[in-house]
Amino acid sequence: MKAHLITYGCQMNEYDTHLVQSQLVSFGAQIVDSVDEADFVLINTCAVRGKPVDKVRSVLGTLRKLKAERPLVIGMMGCLAQLEEGQQIARKFEVDVLLGPGSLLDIGKALESNERFWGLQFKDELHDHIPPPPQGKLQAHLTIMRGCDHHCTYCIVPTTRGPQVSRHPDQILRELEMQLAAGVQEVTLLGQNVNAYGVDGGAKLAGYPSFANLLRMVGQSGVRRIKFTTSHPMNFTEDVAAAMAETPAVCEFVHLPVQSGSNRVLRRMAREYTREEYLHHIANIRKHIPNAVLATDIIVGFPGETEADFEDTLSLYDEVGYDSAYMFAYSARPGTPSYKHFEDLPRELKVERLTRLIAKQKDWSARKNAAHVGSIQEVLLRGDAFSEGFLEGHTRGNHPTVVPKVLGITGAGVHRVRINQATPHMMYGNLIDANGENLPEVPRFAPEAAALVSPLQMA
Ligand code: SAH
Ligand code: SF4
Ligand code: F3S
Repeated sequence: MKAHLITYGCQMNEYDTHLVQSQLVSFGAQIVDSVDEADFVLINTCAVRGKPVDKVRSVLGTLRKLKAERPLVIGMMGCLAQLEEGQQIARKFEVDVLLGPGSLLDIGKALESNERFWGLQFKDELHDHIPPPPQGKLQAHLTIMRGCDHHCTYCIVPTTRGPQVSRHPDQILRELEMQLAAGVQEVTLLGQNVNAYGVDGGAKLAGYPSFANLLRMVGQSGVRRIKFTTSHPMNFTEDVAAAMAETPAVCEFVHLPVQSGSNRVLRRMAREYTREEYLHHIANIRKHIPNAVLATDIIVGFPGETEADFEDTLSLYDEVGYDSAYMFAYSARPGTPSYKHFEDLPRELKVERLTRLIAKQKDWSARKNAAHVGSIQEVLLRGDAFSEGFLEGHTRGNHPTVVPKVLGITGAGVHRVRINQATPHMMYGNLIDANGENLPEVPRFAPEAAALVSPLQMA
């Protein structure tokens, strides 16, 4: 069998795609790069906003046409698959295999079955399953928990992924060991709310460390860099900031979604913290990690959000000074409390506010990135950048970074870089040796090609 997988959604979905892909490989399937080569196409779906759902519809439309012309098995997995909305879509587009986020290990059974197979149960075996480490990659995701116990009124995730289940620390450490043996240098611990690790359904699990202590344990594994996402402000303890500060491998990067700067909106979102409490967490983070790089998620145009509420978000933004942010216009999702109880604001209003917020973020990103010019950063290089003669990677603070190639360095690895230019979206620098001297660059014969992507670098 030749399988092609397509992934939408968050990093948890990327992890799940990897998990299913490795199952397929273990059954003897070949993974191919395009739909044209495949006899099985599996889409890992996201349901968090309307847009990713529309995307799935349009891809399935194309696949259904193909299926009319030649043998093709169509699969749909992930969050949308778990919802009635997704199942309706699946029926309409003649999906053969449907796997919710808790049934991923049914993929084998699904492919053996001669008829339509729909797996929608949340199965415990998934938490003990350790997928083989990614091959030839320096970065890996590691899911430490599934599901979510919060009930933010706008959010469909608790419905699609079920209640929170933490993975046993032994499984996490075993998976990490395998990743390390495969050469992984940076691991991102994943969960919808990693700070609540080890406390499922409000009950502390015996034999499970707190998230802060899990960070300390993972820090002793020998992995070079540790990141984690997502943190919920409600569960963010000062001990997490302390653990970050005292564990050298944990990167100085915190993604702490605030969603809104208005207490009134936060209450309607059922976020369970106030603006003041959020700012208190930020102060704690800065106290323990003065050079912390901060990122957030924001929803603009939540039902009932007034201009004054939105201005509270803008002012909170300036108070914190985020390096980066994921910014969304509120999308009313069937099945969520806010869909049921609140009236959606006009689209133009949401778009207008989003545009203003994006402009502000761009301004902050420009300032933050510019402040790094002249600094020395540890960059994990992945390989060739878009423009020829350059390599790309990212810093401990998650800043995308581009450097000119030097002799002897192919890309894969962690290297020291002196930053010399910055835009809101990118930092540019030079690879340096132990004495801080620039390493000799590989001569570039097509400077105009490089200039297309990196005008600053060529200046
Ligand atoms: N568990 C994570 C986030 C999960 S979803 C957390 O609580 O931080 C990722 C982001 O999508 C959220 O942080 C939120 O900003 C956004 N989001 C979720 N539901 C949304 C909706 N209905 N409309 C717009 N954005 C939404
Ligand atoms: Fe959704 Fe809130 Fe859970 Fe995040 S914490 S996944 S936003 S319900
Ligand atoms: Fe989307 Fe599910 Fe992730 S809804 S954001 S793929 S948890």
